[in-house]
Amino acid sequence: MATRVTPPGEAKPHLFLPDAALVRHAHIDDDHRELIDILNGMLQQADDRGMLAGAVFGDGLRALIARAERHFRDEEAEMAAAAYPELAAHKAVHAAALAHFADTLRGATGQADASAVYNLFNIVLDDLLRADLGFKSYLDATRRGDRLATSAAAR
Ligand SMILES: [Fe+2]
Ligand SMILES: [Fe+2]
Repeated sequence: MATRVTPPGEAKPHLFLPDAALVRHAHIDDDHRELIDILNGMLQQADDRGMLAGAVFGDGLRALIARAERHFRDEEAEMAAAAYPELAAHKAVHAAALAHFADTLRGATGQADASAVYNLFNIVLDDLLRADLGFKSYLDATRRGDRLATSAAAR
């Protein structure tokens, strides 16, 4: 999973993008790192009891939503450019994530537990692990197909 054991001496846990989740296309991996960085920024502001002030959670979530909206728009443009056949279904995953974020923001009143940040991370994972890897597989297959077509033409 994308959480790791906190080494001794490190005050706060942090989330990271595992190599297995790298799409290696355009800006997508950098976008995913930025989304995770926003979550880490929220976790860093938790107090010793793992609690975040309401304003910290709300500001962090609003930043996450704004960055996710831009990421989803750009990623969908990349998918359209690559003629990705699952684009419509993928857009639904993005819309569901944004709806979930909006619900969380509406329900955020006062202090938040750090587990609320992990719940946001789980929603982010819906995109970058559960959905985007389908696009990676498609890109890999397309590249393989291009290579085969090129080598067949060379014969
Ligand atoms: Fe996505
Ligand atoms: Fe993504």
